[in-house]
Amino acid sequence: MRKVIYPGTFDPVTYGHIDIIKRTIELFDFVAVTVAINPAKKPLFSVKERVSLLKESLKEFNNVSVESFDGLVVDYAHKVGAIGIIRGLRAVSDFEYEFQMALMNRKLANDIATIFLMPHEKYTYLDSSIVRNLAGLNSDVSDFVPPSVQMALKKRFRRKSK
Ligand code: COA
Repeated sequence: MRKVIYPGTFDPVTYGHIDIIKRTIELFDFVAVTVAINPAKKPLFSVKERVSLLKESLKEFNNVSVESFDGLVVDYAHKVGAIGIIRGLRAVSDFEYEFQMALMNRKLANDIATIFLMPHEKYTYLDSSIVRNLAGLNSDVSDFVPPSVQMALKKRFRRKSK
């Protein structure tokens, strides 16, 4: 069984992430989507909420799991028996950061490969911050996120504006 992990912050999951996950399961037997606990970021949604939104958005796939992790991504890959780490490359601007991370991860664990996949070009300008910003300004985000995420964003910003 060729298993890979797809780590990220997913605050929240977007159709761009889901596009990468669909491409991943065409190539591998199983993908463990892993929500990173990144102390450098101040997420809008808790880890529990992000996991639950991912689970809801990915429920049609039976070769995908969703969990959270705290620590080194390569340790998590070893723990779950994965052979690689999937990362999405949207634009040249992603390259430098991803290149550094991939090389550092290879230095830390030579047996874990980083595999880059490109999402559909219609998602190349998309990231979670822009979705959070749009939703915070009451703009329609239905082209970018699944309905459950849309609802969660609406609820979160309704509560914030009270
Ligand atoms: N579609 C839409 N958006 C995408 C996307 C896609 N296909 N791919 C990436 N993005 C966006 C994300 O939404 C996120 O947006 P935001 O910053 O506006 O919220 C942004 O790109 C960053 O991507 P993300 O995948 O969340 O990466 P990250 O920079 O938060 O890093 C880890 C996450 C888990 C890979 C990294 O923190 C990590 O490895 N942590 C563990 C510690 C570790 O092992 N360190 C050593 C590594 S060198």
